[in-house]
Amino acid sequence: MEFDTVLSLRKSVRSYTEEPVSEEDIRALIHAAQESSVGHHNDKGYALVVVRDPSVLKRISTEGGEKAGKPHMIYEAPLLILICRTKDVMENLEGFDAGIIAEHIHLKASDLGLSSVILFGFIRLLGKDADYLKMLKLPEGVTPLLAVAVGHSQLSGKARKEDRHFAVIER
Ligand SMILES: Cc1cc2nc3c(=O)[nH]c(=O)nc-3n(C[C@H](O)[C@H](O)[C@H](O)COP(=O)(O)O)c2cc1C
Repeated sequence: MEFDTVLSLRKSVRSYTEEPVSEEDIRALIHAAQESSVGHHNDKGYALVVVRDPSVLKRISTEGGEKAGKPHMIYEAPLLILICRTKDVMENLEGFDAGIIAEHIHLKASDLGLSSVILFGFIRLLGKDADYLKMLKLPEGVTPLLAVAVGHSQLSGKARKEDRHFAVIER
């Protein structure tokens, strides 16, 4: 797909069908993440966790409902990619790096005709002691910074309604 078309189709989708994301598309999303820029070449500061297990995805929704009264924080998406820090992360860079990695996945999803949304809310609300994390049994020191939910949209793939309106200051 033309890069400008990928950008114009990029949008946050919060309503998914039950259709799973194919293995081939998952590999393409991970490959796109692996093409990210990352501060100080610190590849070992991050790990990607691919979550397809319906019981883990369900647990996140249930915990969101129980702990925060928000049972739809991952919008019933069939796939979640967690961008995690490891014990080797550089803390002053982790937010930037995670955002860049997430955007690579989000844009690649657009390129593949998939839908996605970057998510921080459930990670912040459920915290480090969340049950879904216990179910994932991640290696020591590996904790989520940001996530991208991916799937097939319930709506047709129209372009985004509007662009951002950032102030642009020129000198
Ligand atoms: C760092 C970051 C965290 C986000 N976290 C959430 C979230 O927890 N839940 C959610 O529904 N959307 C989340 N979003 C999506 C934004 O709300 C979304 O980009 C915004 O609604 C604009 O819509 P658009 O992406 O379709 O242009 C997040 C986006 C970013 C970049």
